[in-house]
Formats: sequence, C-alpha cells, structure tokens
Amino acid sequence: MYFKKFNLKSVLLILVLISLIIIPILSVDSSKFKTCQESHFCKRQRQTHEGEINPMKSFQTFNVIRDTVKLNQNDKTITFDLQEKTAKDNVLTMKLELYENGIVRMRAQEKSPLANKKRYHVNDVLLDSIKTQSIKWKEEPKSSSNHFSFIHGEKQCCYVQVQLEPFKLDVYIMGELAITTNKDGLFHFEPIQEKPTIAGPENKEGNTEENNNNNNNNNNVAHEGYWEERFQSHQDSKPNGPMSIGMDFTFVGSSHVYGIPEHSTRLSLKSTTGNGIKENPYRLYNLDVFEYEIDKTMALYGSVPLMISHDTKKTTAIFWLNAAETFVDIEDVEGPSKKTHWISETGILDVFYLTGPTPSSIFKQYAYLTGTTQLPQMFSLGYHQCKWNYKSEDHVKEIDAGFDKHQIPYDVIWLDIEHTDGKRYFTWDNNNFPTPEEMLKAIAVKNRKMVNIVDPHIKRDNGYYIHSEAQSKGYYIKNKDGNDYDGWCWPGSSSYLDFTNPEIRDWWASQFAYDKYKGSAPNLYIWNDMNEPSVFNGPEVSMHKDAKHWGDYEHRDLHNLYGFYYHMASADGLIKRNPDQNDRPFVLSRAFFAGSQRIGAIWTGDNAAEWSHLDIANPMLLSLNIAGITFSGADVGGFFGNPDAELLARWYQAGAFQPFFRGHAHLDSRHREPWLFDEPYSSVMKDAIITRYTYLPLWYTTFFENTINGSPVINPLWVQYPKEQELFDIDDTIIISNSLLVKPVTKQGAKSMKVILPGKSVNEIWYDVDTEKPIEAGTYEIDTPLEKIPVYQRGGSIIPKKERVRRSSAQMKDDPFTIRIALDKNQFAQGQLYIDDEHSFDYKKGNYLYKQFTFKDNTLIFNTHPESKQNGKFTSPSTIEKIIILGYKQKPTSIVSEDGKQLSFDYDQSLSKLTIRKPDFSVNSNFILKFN
Ligand code: GLC
Repeated sequence: MYFKKFNLKSVLLILVLISLIIIPILSVDSSKFKTCQESHFCKRQRQTHEGEINPMKSFQTFNVIRDTVKLNQNDKTITFDLQEKTAKDNVLTMKLELYENGIVRMRAQEKSPLANKKRYHVNDVLLDSIKTQSIKWKEEPKSSSNHFSFIHGEKQCCYVQVQLEPFKLDVYIMGELAITTNKDGLFHFEPIQEKPTIAGPENKEGNTEENNNNNNNNNNVAHEGYWEERFQSHQDSKPNGPMSIGMDFTFVGSSHVYGIPEHSTRLSLKSTTGNGIKENPYRLYNLDVFEYEIDKTMALYGSVPLMISHDTKKTTAIFWLNAAETFVDIEDVEGPSKKTHWISETGILDVFYLTGPTPSSIFKQYAYLTGTTQLPQMFSLGYHQCKWNYKSEDHVKEIDAGFDKHQIPYDVIWLDIEHTDGKRYFTWDNNNFPTPEEMLKAIAVKNRKMVNIVDPHIKRDNGYYIHSEAQSKGYYIKNKDGNDYDGWCWPGSSSYLDFTNPEIRDWWASQFAYDKYKGSAPNLYIWNDMNEPSVFNGPEVSMHKDAKHWGDYEHRDLHNLYGFYYHMASADGLIKRNPDQNDRPFVLSRAFFAGSQRIGAIWTGDNAAEWSHLDIANPMLLSLNIAGITFSGADVGGFFGNPDAELLARWYQAGAFQPFFRGHAHLDSRHREPWLFDEPYSSVMKDAIITRYTYLPLWYTTFFENTINGSPVINPLWVQYPKEQELFDIDDTIIISNSLLVKPVTKQGAKSMKVILPGKSVNEIWYDVDTEKPIEAGTYEIDTPLEKIPVYQRGGSIIPKKERVRRSSAQMKDDPFTIRIALDKNQFAQGQLYIDDEHSFDYKKGNYLYKQFTFKDNTLIFNTHPESKQNGKFTSPSTIEKIIILGYKQKPTSIVSEDGKQLSFDYDQSLSKLTIRKPDFSVNSNFILKFN
C-alpha cells in the first residue's frame, strides 16, 4: 500500500517535472537588464530622491546668479548663470525661450565646458520650422526680489516665474500654477571633469561611497561607478566620467500622468516611489527584451520622453529632449499632485513645457515640435500577413492563393530574415527565392505588396558587398580602441553602420536603388528590426556604451536615437529609389524615438500568444498614440507561442481596430493563417479582416487629420471627454478619430463584458454598429458571443465606409462610399472624408479632396472642409452609393437635392433608421439634401 502511494506520488512529481520542461514558460530573464540600482548614475541620483543621506556634493541645488539675468530681445531668450550652492565652481548657463503655441523651453549646460569634452545635443528630432517668440517681462528682475517672471509677447496663455535662490521655475496656466521645476531640489548636473588620478589601490578599496563623493572636489574620486562600471561580464570604460543630469517636475493638481512609452504597463502611469512604494523607475533605453512581461517599468524597444499630465481642469506635458539612458520616477504627493524625477546619464538639460491646456492643444504643441505622422499609403492600412518564416517563392504563392481561395482581403505579404543569403540583407537565398522579380510581379498583378526585412547588423564577410564597402569607407561604429565595433547578431559576427552620420545615411539610402538591391521592385517595402540596436553578446543585449560615433560622441550619448536614424535612412532610400521620388515610403521599425512618427510605422515587438498580451496591446498603443507615434500595432496572435483558435479570433477582432494590422509569429510557432482553424473561429477571423477593410476610408481620413493637428488616431476616452474623471484610468477602450468606440474582448471565454460609453456630461448617444440601436452614455454589461466586436458609433458623427468586399485595398480605390450618419440628441452630426491617390506625395501640393458632411436642421450638406488646402486638381471617380442615418426621429415626406431631384429612401421606424439608396453623388462636387 505504502509502496503504491509512494509510486503515485513520484509519478505525479515526474509528470509535473516533465510538464515544466515541455511547456515553455514565457518570461523575461530580467537579470540581463539593469535596474536603477544597477545603473550607477541612476543610483547616485535616486538616493536623494528617496530621502536617504547622499553626500554627493553636486546634489545640492543651484542659485541663479542675480546680475547675469538678461532678456535678449533679438534672440528672444532669457539667459542667466546658475551656481551650485556648495560647489561654487559648478556654474551653468541657462536659456529660457517661448515658442509659438504656448511652449516654454529650458536649456542648461556648463558655462565653461572643458575644451576636450562635450555634451551631446539631440539633433534632427525637432522640426526646423519651430520658431521662438518675443518675450516680455511680467515682473522684471530686481535686487529686492527673489524672483522674476515673463510672459509671451503677444499671447497671454501662460507665464513663467523663476525663483533665484534656490533656483525654481514655475509655469502658470490660466493664472494658476501648473508645473513646478526643482521644487524638491533634485536639479542635478554633474560637471564634466578630467579623470582624476587614484592615489593607490588602498584608496579605491578603502573608500566608502560617501568618502568617494566627498573627495570628488579633490579630483580624487574612486573609479568604480564614476570612471568605469561593470555589469555582469561587461565593462564600461566611461572615459568621460560622471556627467549625468536630473530634475524634478511637479504637475500641480494632477492625479494622472501618461506617456513615456515604451513600457508594458497600463496607460495611466503608476507611482514608482513614495507612500511605501518601491518600484523601479520607468526606464527609457531602447532594448531588445526577449519575452517581455506585462506591467513592468523596464525599458522596451523604443523611447519617447514625453509625459502628459491631465486633470479635469487642464492638460500639460513635459518633453525631456535627451537620447541617453533615462529613468523617470513618479510619486503621488499632496494636492493631489504628481511629482516626477527625470534622470539621464549624459546630454544637456533640454526641457519643453507644453502648456495645453486641453488634450488637443497638447497634441498640436507636440506635433509643432516633432512633426506629425507621415501619411501612410492606403495599402499599409490594410491587413499584413507575416510569419517567420515564409520560406520560398512557392510558399509565398501558396499563402497568397490561400487568401484568394478563402476570399479574405489582404494587402501585404512579409519575408523575414531567412529569405536572405545567410542574413546578408539586400540579398536573396537563391535556392528558395531564385526569381524574386517574378514573385514580386505575381503579387503586383493582384495589386498587392511585399515587405522584406533589412536589419542594421552587417555580416562581417569580405565577400559581402555591403560589408566590404562599409568597412573600406570607415562607416562602422568604432570600439573605444578605434577598431570597428564587432558584435553578435543573426548573421554571427556583425558590425553596425553609424547612422548618426548623414553621409552614411545617404550611402545606406542608396542601397535601395533598384539596380543595387537586385530583385527588388516598386511594390517591395521594408521592415527594420533589431535597431535598438540588438547585439546578442553585448551588455543588456545591446551595444557597449563606450562605442564611438560620428563627431566623437559615445554610444551612451545617443543610444535611444540609433533606431530613429536607421529608420530614417531606410525610408529615405525608399523615396530616392524612384526617379520621381514620389512614392510614400513604408518602413516598419521596432526601435523609435520622439519624431519617429515622421518616418514610418512602429510595432510593439515580440509579444506572446497569451491573453494578457492581447489585453495590454491597446494600452501600449494608446500610450504610443498620445506620444505622437500613431501608426503602430502589435503582432496579431502574439509572436511567441501558439494561440488557440479563440485567442487568435479575439486578437483579429482587436487588431482590425488598431492602426497597424499585421499577423506575425515566431519561427517555432505553428502556422496560423486564418483558414487553418475550425469554424466558427476561421470565419470570425475572416470577418474581422473584412470589417477592417470596410473602415479604411475612416482610417485614411483620420491619418490625414493627424497631419493637420497631430491628434492621436486612436484615443483614450479621457482625451475625448477630458472632464469625466471616471474615465482617466480606462485604457481598454479606444476611440478612432472622435467617432468610433471599440472595446475588444481580451478575456478568455468572456460571455459578457462591461462597456463604458462615455459622454454623460454632454448627453452623448452611442449606436451599436451591429444592431444600430441607440444607447445613452453609461456603463453596460453587454453580451460578447465569439462573433461580437463591441463597436459603437458616436451620435453626432458621420463615418465614411466602403462596404464592397475586395481582394485588397487597391481594388477598392474607386469603389463607392457608404456614409453612416449617427445623429445626436439635437439631430446633428458632422464628419469628414479625405481622398487622394492613396500613394504619392502629391497630396502635399493640395492634390486631394478633403470634404465635410454636416447634418443640421434637417439638411445634409456635403462641402469642402473649411481647413482644406485642396488645389482643385484631384478628382475621384468614386460616388456615394448609400447614406444611412441613425436616430432620425420620424419618416420624412421627401428628400430633395439642391437641383430639385427627389431621392428614394427607406425608413425603419423601430430603429429610427433612414436609408437613402443610390444617391450616386460624385465625391468631387458639393451637394445639399433637404429632408422635408
Ligand atoms: C525579432 C523580431 C521578430 C522577427 C525576428 C526574426 O525577434 O522582433 O519580429 O520575426 O526577430 O527576424
């Protein structure tokens, strides 16, 4: 008996052990990545933040040197010197400026920098078009006063007050204090210094950190952490020593802060310190994090150092323009207010205050600084089919045919790294892809596109033309010893081009010429991966910080910009390869920085086929959207692992309503093209893709509007309803433009789900797009059978659609529109429609139609949008084939056009739904319809 029992136990134990071995558990190896404690500069600065005794002399705060304050009207700047209270030789120069649109800029760096060492200034992120404005004193600096203040020359949106001793800078909006700077004395600026000599080993070992810091004054600081730093097996030589910067900003009266993507946390940023909380600060350091986990403040693939604060009265933001490793602490303080502490390893102090005061004005201000999203080609808003790996031309043919056979539209098929000759980008594996031109032609015939991966690591193989040319031209990033940096990536030993150098970017761009990139064609576009950069054998799977770039800067200074510059060079290549340079590029990138929106699309990297990853996709995409990166998506289905049919179906439903819509999977994942699953799942996936295509006119119009106002393409609810406090934490629901609310099902087996329809304060009505029934703003438990995607159109909006199912977006180009009008409580609605050639830059010259629909006083007016800059040269063959009006209270007796034509219509009393069939108006001309 005992034996039996024992046996059963051990069998169970063995089974558990086996299952542990064979069921892969997806989780990040966080020991590979640094925490603040493991990054010496962060540890140095954060100790003060936590209130611990920190003897670093430079943690004392700064005073303004009174008689240096001056207003230079020509320059439109206020400048003054700052002196560190306890280290009188640490003197900085600060420059304050005001920009159009209510933006304040503060910059500081050493007054007398060492001749042989310099700080990095971020270039190429801000638009050249930004302009400073004139400044007026509000209160002049006086010897009797501890502060001065200034104001915008013309607009009186806000003012800035500077306290001299100790330095403090307060931004006031609408007469009230909104953002305070250095309130907590965390302004920290480690002056660049010559490397001190160490007296002897006993000094190094015998010193406590406290002594080291005290000795800093005597140029006798110990090296570890300051002049060298070890992480695991990697040694960082730190030749420039400590030069970190830090500052605190408090958003006064704010209960919520958002932004600083990319992290796998919820949209509303959590507190990382204070009130007993001991989290790692949010980290911005572009990294290839294998199997990342949800709800971590660890760094991921990209960084946008923009934080937006919001409360019921105002929205403001801080843009911290620094490309070095950065940590951000957040703390709830009394008020309620949000205190934040920003710490960067190097670079100058360069901060923009965006004064809002509304969410839409924040987006305008940020777009004014860093630009809007490049208008995507229409095809790139369709569905993309990717898998690592479609392995041959036959395989591509088979997948392409599969979509046709199953009548599922798609626009783009993608090839991953195996399509190349041994991971030598710009080449093809000749066995599996012997005739790429033919393959691309076969796709072009169906008006579809292909995307090939091109990574930034270059295989160090003398027979590879890219390598030999790059090497001979000296284009690689160098080690600290001056030799080419050599790291390990997909091809094995690899070097990395220095894309921060414009000459090297041009050279890279020229590689995309059709005669250089053999086998490429105009319908081949590009995917840039691994551009954090990912270096398998480097510290934190990335590049050594002491590697050398153009201009003698270290990698540490600009790490977060590497992917941005790489992306820029590739996109430029796609533009330049065509003689007329008139095809908008499409380049998807994994790494990004502020301003990447101008270049191309972004995806959230290697997620997993788990419900939690589906659930976090919208919060992550919302965070990207409010930080300007609107053209973004998450791998549908999850990259790692194998989703079951239900998870995949739900993922397609969510992905169909996300800006960039691509199915992708790992090499080891099973194939998951939509037709490979049983019913009803397969049809649910297909229907989701078809639904995506019907809304393409809405997506396209919304992306165009972003080019005018910088607004997110998908919005969190609080952006549209900024006064409704109960919405400030909601991030599982998105609103496309300002009209279509989507809350995808992200929980396994969910039979029903809570949906919040916002807008109580404005008596909003929403219409379920499936049932077409009106629902008042409120919270509802709704049924979510598998085929249900909870989507609601806002009463008051008008949405353009194309409802004929085709094989690809290109085939829908000239199709007629269906216009869906959802009336609000006042029988009013308005919406827009944007049309152009769907692919070229001609829209920049005004070759487009930007139209507005307004339903008001029983009249539907279709006219040119007041903000349109159309030049009248573009026309479209499309017509309006159907107009549907929801919420129309009673049957009209007639509907008459301006020229007296009577239109036929149906009216459904039970739904208050009016359908005008075949009005067949051309979209080129304006029209007015009267409802009698
Ligand atoms: C990276 C990418 C992934 C790609 C793979 C192979 O993991 O994030 O999307 O499939 O590399 O290229």
